[in-house]
Amino acid sequence: MKKYYITTPLYYVNSKPHIGHAYTTIAADVLARYLRSREKEVFFQTGTDEHGSNIEKTARLHGIEPQKWADDVARDFRNLWKTLHIDYDNFIRTTDAAHVKQVQLIFEKLIKDDEVYKGKYEGLYCSSCENFFDESELVEGKCPVHKKNAEKVREETYFFRLSKYEKPLLEYYKNNPGFLSPAYRANEILRFVEGGLKDISVSRTRVAWGIQISSDPAHTIYVWFDALLNYITGAGFELGNKNEKFDKTWPADVQLVGKEIYRFHAVIWPAMLMALGLPLPKKVYAHGWWTVDGEKMSKSRGNIVNPEDVVREYGLDPLRYFIFREVPFGQDGDFSNNSLKQRYNSELANDLGNLFSRTVNMINKYLDSEMPEKPGPSPLLEEMNAVQKGIDADIENLQFGSALDKIWKAVSVLNKKVDTEKPWVMAKTDPEKLKSFLHEMVWCLRLISSWLYPFMPDTSAKMHMHLAIGKPRAADVEPKKIEPLFPRKQ
Ligand code: ME8
Ligand code: MG
Repeated sequence: MKKYYITTPLYYVNSKPHIGHAYTTIAADVLARYLRSREKEVFFQTGTDEHGSNIEKTARLHGIEPQKWADDVARDFRNLWKTLHIDYDNFIRTTDAAHVKQVQLIFEKLIKDDEVYKGKYEGLYCSSCENFFDESELVEGKCPVHKKNAEKVREETYFFRLSKYEKPLLEYYKNNPGFLSPAYRANEILRFVEGGLKDISVSRTRVAWGIQISSDPAHTIYVWFDALLNYITGAGFELGNKNEKFDKTWPADVQLVGKEIYRFHAVIWPAMLMALGLPLPKKVYAHGWWTVDGEKMSKSRGNIVNPEDVVREYGLDPLRYFIFREVPFGQDGDFSNNSLKQRYNSELANDLGNLFSRTVNMINKYLDSEMPEKPGPSPLLEEMNAVQKGIDADIENLQFGSALDKIWKAVSVLNKKVDTEKPWVMAKTDPEKLKSFLHEMVWCLRLISSWLYPFMPDTSAKMHMHLAIGKPRAADVEPKKIEPLFPRKQ
């Protein structure tokens, strides 16, 4: 059976990982955990993009060899993924020997097939973007991203015949409406491709820190051309060798990226695959960008959010919850400590935390920790079960915020139910009714804890344990000592 293949971008190693990188990677993890809990086989790949002049410059500025620099930052990424409980299957680095070898072989094949040819290039180059610009794309002669002067550069270079794929790409977009996602991002790409594609330069003679072209070692391969290929090399692609791993993994089902690198993934990448005669991914999904307190995150502003700090202050699950509850996945959003604290106290500590602790406390107090094996007939439970379909659809459509909205609506229904049914009164007047009511509540909470699993795996596990799933009573747990799931923050 084919595995469900999920990718994140490969992050540059020129700076430390931050909340933006965490965002995409946690999103991939939520989807992967959800699918695995549905018995799907998943291949989830992330990693680091390590070549190019920016990285070389940064390393040398610190007096460190680029490879050693890349080793250190790749380790920082891996450590962060551990802290954030990212359960990936493969971490690929573009300096991995197997990747380098395949990129070289692929490049030779593309030359041989006349998909790549040698020519001369004159253009306006931004060394920070590692990208050429048209005159018309510059803002007062400056790169629109870095606001730096673009230099006029003339050099021998290899070109990829991107122009050849204008029509095939448009055809593919038309026949595969789910490919460009979310749908509201499709227009920009369509307009860009319809505007006409030019062949692109895919080698550099002035960049030493990169993969050499085997047949012409004065050139290194353009860092984007190298990096995009990770999605197949990491999945086991070997030129000329059919192999089971690759066949079971490729094509990717979902490729998650930030909106700023959407063109690379929605135009250049599929064209490269067409040139190689490989099937295209089913979906490339571009999410929006986080600002911090209304400003762009940047070193110079000193406002870069380190996910480790957030985890230290609030715990991991509140972070995993907040980033998807705060902003619909796809749109831009703003990260603010005020909003985080507000949601933490009201939605986590109050809504979910209280519902959970008061239910478990009553089970302990009134029913001597006895947990139900099966629920009796229950309209409440049916109501909850009916929510499940919508949550599943939301996660499958990457509408994480919408799934969380549905879960919290259910939490609120249950809290109201406790308030109106007043089980503490039943305890005096109708112990049988109390018992069946609490048993119903336990079953509903078990459902909620399973819904929370992809987003908040630790919280879900804690709830599972206290709700004694698969056991007749809340064993292993000292009944009077339930720690709050989310202690309130002042
Ligand atoms: O572009 N908000 O790497 P990169 C949301 N190496 N997401 C953000 C973000 C923010 N403020 N900042 C970063 C590269 N991201 C290339 C990719 S792929 C073959 C090569 C996330 O280190 C988002 O996923 O600049 C974005 O696309 C990615 O990090 C860019 O990481
Ligand atoms: Mg970037």
